[in-house]
This record gives sequence, C-alpha cells and structure tokens, in this order.
Amino acid sequence: MFNPFSLNEKTILITGASSGIGRQCAIACSNMGARIIAVARNTERLQETLSQLKGEGHSCYSIELSNCDDIKSLVAKIVNENGKLDGIICAAGIERTMPAKLLTPADYEEVFRINTVSAFELVSQATTVKYFNAGGSVVLISSITSLIARQGTAAYSASKGAMVSGARVLAAELSKRKIRVNCISPGTILTPLMQNFLDTLNEDDYKKRTSGFPLGLGKPEDVANASIYLLSDASRWVTGQNFVIDGGFTIQ
Ligand SMILES: NC(=O)c1ccc[n+]([C@@H]2O[C@H](COP(=O)([O-])OP(=O)(O)OC[C@H]3O[C@@H](n4cnc5c(N)ncnc54)[C@H](O)[C@@H]3O)[C@@H](O)[C@H]2O)c1
Repeated sequence: MFNPFSLNEKTILITGASSGIGRQCAIACSNMGARIIAVARNTERLQETLSQLKGEGHSCYSIELSNCDDIKSLVAKIVNENGKLDGIICAAGIERTMPAKLLTPADYEEVFRINTVSAFELVSQATTVKYFNAGGSVVLISSITSLIARQGTAAYSASKGAMVSGARVLAAELSKRKIRVNCISPGTILTPLMQNFLDTLNEDDYKKRTSGFPLGLGKPEDVANASIYLLSDASRWVTGQNFVIDGGFTIQ
C-alpha cells in the first residue's frame, strides 16, 4: 500500500539518539522503514536505543560533539561504513538554566558549541555530494524558546534561535541539490531529563513551568512523528521552516 510517509531505503543519521527525543526519533523512523545511524556520547545507551529499533542494518557511533573538529572524520567514517545518507536529525542539545546576569561567556560558548555550532558543522560536512543523496532532508531540533521568552534561558534560547535563522540559510543554499532543511520547535516534552528537572521544582514553580499548554505537555512521540513527515517525501516542497509542536502554547 502506498504510504507517503514511508522512510523505506532511507539512511538517517540522528544525534542525541541515546535518550529522550533523539531516541524516540530513531525508534519512530525505524518503524517507518529507515536504517538508523545513532550518534551520541554514551555507547551503552546508544546500544539500548539500537535494541529498540525495528529492522536491520542500524549502527551507532559515539562522539563528544563539543569537539567540533572531530565531526569531519566521524562523518567520513560513517559514510564509508554505511553508504550515503538520506537524512539527518540533530537532536543533541544541552540546557543551562540560570538568570542572564549569572551566565558567563564560557556558558554561552558551551551551549552554542553543542546546540548550534556542532549541528551546523555536522550538516555542512554530511551534505556534500559525496556523502548525501539529492532529495534528502535535514531536521534540526530547536525549541519554542526560539520564539518566546522563558526566563533563565538566555543562552539556550539564543542558541535555538540561531538554529532557526541558520537553517533558513542552509535551506536556501542546499536547495540547488533538492536537499531540504527544517527545524522543529517543541514545547515542554516529557523526556526523562525533563521529568528529572520538573521533579526538582517546588509546587509553585512546577505549576508555572507546566501550565499554559492547552493540549497538555508533549511526548517524545509528538516530535518524532513530525520528524517522520519532514524526512519523508511527503514534505518534498517544505524547506526553511520552523515547525512549532507545542500543544498550543504559543498561540495564546
Ligand atoms: N525535552 C524538552 O522539553 C525539549 C523541548 C524543546 C527542545 N528540546 C530539545 O530537544 C533535544 C533533545 O532533548 P531531550 O529532552 O531529549 O534531552 P536529553 O538530554 O534526553 O537528550 C540529549 C541528547 O543529546 C546528547 N548530547 C548532549 N550533549 C552532547 C555532547 N556534548 N556530545 C554528544 N551528544 C550530546 C545526549 O547524549 C543525549 O543523547 C535537545 O536539543 C533539546 O534542546 C527538548
């Protein structure tokens, strides 16, 4: 049966695939027929992800993404061992929550390096003619903090906003080869990491942090399903966009 969202015969590289949103994207894309290359730091947790994938031929690679100079050789190794890529999801990311007056230049640099610079370096290295099939698709996981002010997240929000504006430029530059680049901006998604953070809050702060979502909080599946659409041929005419997946938070 024809399925416009099929990812059959597509090879998709996913960063941050050892947990949360990245792991769920790997599971969902494998359910749609993709071969997954899971990338993150922790090999054991990457193996756990692989054990949850459907189909065969998946693999995983460990890297510390803040060492941006290592990305070029990692991409070469991945493509040598697995063939050309059809898609990328950049889901690796960190948060640094504190009032702006306490953030140091080093905090900004670390957050930008992991959330933004490493993602753009990976996309630049991996989308060359040698490594990436024409018609492929790139998905960058940004955040609704690219659009709204959440206090305590100046470094994180700036890094996610930069992702959205940079993605538009990549989309324009890569359109020559029919490669598409889009962002997904999720609201609060109940990943294990987010749940641990919420558990540290007192009752008032917990209510504040989790209120304002007309459809309730999100699940990793909500982001993963959007990524399937953006990686599939169903979205062949969609590029340079920022897809907000937030249960209605930003419409109010
Ligand atoms: N959970 C949310 O509510 C939410 C909302 C909006 C956006 N996001 C974004 O979604 C993405 C995934 O978030 P999550 O909640 O699943 O977080 P998570 O902490 O569960 O996953 C983060 C992943 O990034 C990887 N990672 C982090 N630093 C790395 C580094 N230096 N080198 C290599 N890998 C590294 C981790 O290994 C892990 O696999 C992040 O970019 C986050 O900013 C999350």
